[in-house]
Amino acid sequence: MDRVNIINKENFSNQEYYVDLVKNINDDEYAKTGDAKKFIIVTFGCQMNEHDSENIKGMLTNMGYEETEDMEKANLIIYNTCAIRENAETRFFGNIGALKNIKKKNPDIVIATCGCMMQEPHIVKELTSKYKHVNIIFGTHNIYKFPELLYTYISLVDKETVVDVWDIDGNIVEGLPSVRRYDFKAFVNIMYGCNNFCTYCIVPFTRGRERSRSPQDILQEVKLLSQNSVKEITLLGQNVNSYGNNFTDKYTFPMLLEDINKIDNIERIRFMTSHPKDISDELINSFATLDKLCESLHLPVQSGSSNVLKLMNRRYTAEDYMKKIEKIKKVAPDIALTTDIIVGFPGETEEDFKQTLKLVKEVEYDSAFMFMYSTRKGTVAEKMSGHISEEVKKDRFNRLLETANEISAKKNKEYKDKIEQVLVEGFSKKNESVLSGRNRKNKLINFVGDESKIGQIVNVKITDVKSFSLNGVEV
Ligand code: SAH
Ligand code: SF4
Ligand code: F3S
Repeated sequence: MDRVNIINKENFSNQEYYVDLVKNINDDEYAKTGDAKKFIIVTFGCQMNEHDSENIKGMLTNMGYEETEDMEKANLIIYNTCAIRENAETRFFGNIGALKNIKKKNPDIVIATCGCMMQEPHIVKELTSKYKHVNIIFGTHNIYKFPELLYTYISLVDKETVVDVWDIDGNIVEGLPSVRRYDFKAFVNIMYGCNNFCTYCIVPFTRGRERSRSPQDILQEVKLLSQNSVKEITLLGQNVNSYGNNFTDKYTFPMLLEDINKIDNIERIRFMTSHPKDISDELINSFATLDKLCESLHLPVQSGSSNVLKLMNRRYTAEDYMKKIEKIKKVAPDIALTTDIIVGFPGETEEDFKQTLKLVKEVEYDSAFMFMYSTRKGTVAEKMSGHISEEVKKDRFNRLLETANEISAKKNKEYKDKIEQVLVEGFSKKNESVLSGRNRKNKLINFVGDESKIGQIVNVKITDVKSFSLNGVEV
């Protein structure tokens, strides 16, 4: 583990120092006004970013801030950004541009931007030159420094933008505070970064090289969560199958799953994401042997054409992928499979695309996340020949969407009259008297019930099947 620098309580006291400094300022204000300072954090992107935002919220709570949903009421506005697709940039600059008026009306408001986009130098350059109302900019590798950056900005007499973005990626920070969205389920990072360099992808540039947290730290965190009424754990990493590659001993991801499976009070274990090239027989067997491991697997295929997969540097063929799917279905016939697919990758022919449609029909995914290829600066695919027109990409996207939706609807029908165990998340967004939650396969299920069920696992009989949701009654 030589290149990994672990930052924990012993060499981490700096953060507490700055948290206290900001808290003292906020406490003084509170004594004068009776109002706590408010923050809003707008999060884009994947679970990694969501989890980073939970850590930022934890730090802010310790600094005496309260969360608000109302941009107008916030004293601190944070945008946690995602760089996976290009169109997000236009939207981001639009959103940030719109904050100019808020800042003009109230110059004391602090505006911060962080996340994957900040790891791209051209974004930081644009922000610092044209969006001077942004006050703090930090990246993905130094989130733990946020209290220091905030204190630095607050105490500046001549307000200038505080910019701190690192390209050093060897850190693992342990023990960050966290405010979670749900009391009963939690994300746990098991590794950071990615070494795969799929030719379309920006993540290895924004999140750095792969590094794994020690099993002791992970198990300790899960134990603590289990003692705090958490029932469901989702283990996070860009490629969980290469967990432990930087360890000197042979402690693998399936071994970690086995150890987590033994922890009392944890009832469900999920993980994402698995790279198909690395999914091992050992991991596949875990679905048969570990009772807490949920019957759901996200296995991004990206394309059904081996030619395109080669250009993508995915390092498996469509045949390899199908073989793994067969193995998985043999071990866990009831598993819900989900995937990610990119259409319109440079060089993708109509024939290649048809192979994707064919694969989707063969696998019968419960659901698929579909994307039109988007060129990212600095990636290998940016320089490839054969870029596809937007029109063709849209056409392929719509055809794929239709096929995938038909399959999802068909898979949903299989649930009719079945009894599902639902971990209740809260009231449904559409109807305040209806509860919604997820079964082990991660399907959203609605039923009528009262608040006392939130956070509980209840049995629900499916009575009504819709294309994208399932309704039932508690039994
Ligand atoms: N580490 C995960 C996924 C990370 S990004 C994995 O490897 O599976 C999530 C998804 O975004 C990817 O699976 C891919 O389908 C999509 N994606 C990534 N880069 C993209 C790009 N440049 N254009 C379109 N979709 C992209
Ligand atoms: Fe991106 Fe590929 Fe790494 Fe996933 S495995 S994060 S798609 S480079
Ligand atoms: Fe986006 Fe960064 Fe996740 S680019 S998808 S937020 S790792």
